[in-house]
Amino acid sequence: MLRYITGLQPSGALHIGNYFGAVRPAVELQDRGEAFYFIANYHALTSTQHGPTLREYTHNLALDLLACGLDPAKACFFRQSDIPAVPELAWILSTITPMGLLERAHSYKDKIARGLPASHGLFAYPVLMAADILLYRADVVPVGKDQKQHLEITRDLAIKFNETFGDVLQLPEPYIRDEVATVPGLDGQKMSKSYGNTLEVFGTEKALRKKVMSIVTDSTPVEAPKEPAGSTIFQLYQLFAPADEVNLMERQFREGGVGYGEFKKRLFETFWETFRPLRERRARLQADPGYVESVLADGAARARIVAEETMRKVRAAVGLADP
Ligand code: ADP
Ligand code: TRP
Repeated sequence: MLRYITGLQPSGALHIGNYFGAVRPAVELQDRGEAFYFIANYHALTSTQHGPTLREYTHNLALDLLACGLDPAKACFFRQSDIPAVPELAWILSTITPMGLLERAHSYKDKIARGLPASHGLFAYPVLMAADILLYRADVVPVGKDQKQHLEITRDLAIKFNETFGDVLQLPEPYIRDEVATVPGLDGQKMSKSYGNTLEVFGTEKALRKKVMSIVTDSTPVEAPKEPAGSTIFQLYQLFAPADEVNLMERQFREGGVGYGEFKKRLFETFWETFRPLRERRARLQADPGYVESVLADGAARARIVAEETMRKVRAAVGLADP
C-alpha cells in the first residue's frame, strides 16, 4: 500500500481554489493508500506572525478539512508542530544542504520580490518541508505545481544524506496535480488569498452573495450574445452545476437576452447549495468543543511513532546516538 503525505498551510480562510485544487484530491486519495495529512503551522509561521491569528487559522483549517470529508479513521491527520522530530531532522538536513540549492528556489525569490523580508525561515523553508516528507518515509507526495521544485530539493537532500551517512532515507515520488484546472478568482486572475479575489468555502451567505455579485464582467448589454469561454461566471458555474444546467447557461450566453446579473444569481445559488452539506457537517463538528483537538492529538500520536522510527536510524547514522 502506498503512503501519501501532504501538508496544508493554515494561512487564512479556505477558498474554493484550495478546495478543488488541493482538498478534494486529498480526500479522494485517503481511500487509495495510507494517507498522512498535516497542518503545516511551522511553515505558516514564516508569514503569519501573530499568535492568536495562527492559533485560530490552525483550528479553523482542521475544522474545514474535517468538514470537507477528511476522515481521521482513514487518514492520519495531525499538526506539524506536534512532532518534535520535524525541527530535529530539519536541522540535521540543513547541515548537508548546499546554500546554492536554496538560493535557486523560486518560491523564496518570489516571496522576496513581493516584499516579504528575507528571513532565515523563509530561506530554509524547503529544508523544513524535506524533513516533513522524509520523516514519514512517504512514497508519494501529492502537491500543486507550485511545489514541484520543493520536491526536487527534498529528493536532492535525501540523496545527499544517503551518500554521506548511508542508506537511511527513502526517496519520495512527487505527484503533481496538473490535471486540476486553476480556479479563477472574482477578478479573473488565479484565485488566491494574496490577490483578495477569493470565494470562501465557509463564508457567510451575505458576504459570499455580495462577492459573487461583484465578479468582474465586460459591459455587453443584456440582450446581446456573450462569449462563455473566457467568462469567470461560466468557469465557476462549471465547477458546481450539473451538465444540463451548464449547457443551458452556455446556450443563453450565446443567444443573448440574459444579463450577467442573472447568471451571477444562478451561480451563487448553485455554489451555496453545493457546499450546504459541508457547512452543516462543519457546524456539527464545531458544536463538539473537544473534537478537533482529540482528532489532532490522536493523529500526532500515530505520526510520532512513524517519525521516531526514522529518527532512531538518522541519529545513529550521523553519530548523535549509538547504532
Ligand atoms: P493561496 O494562493 O490562496 O495562498 P495556497 O498557496 O495556500 O493558496 O494554496 C494551497 C494549495 O491550494 C496549493 O498548493 C494549490 O494546490 C491549491 N490552490 C490554491 N489556489 C488555487 C486555484 N486558484 N486553483 C486551483 N488550486 C489552487
Ligand atoms: N509548502 C507546502 C505549501 O505551501 C505545504 C507543505 C509543508 C507541504 N510541508 C509539506 C506539502 C510536505 C507537502 C509535503 O503548499
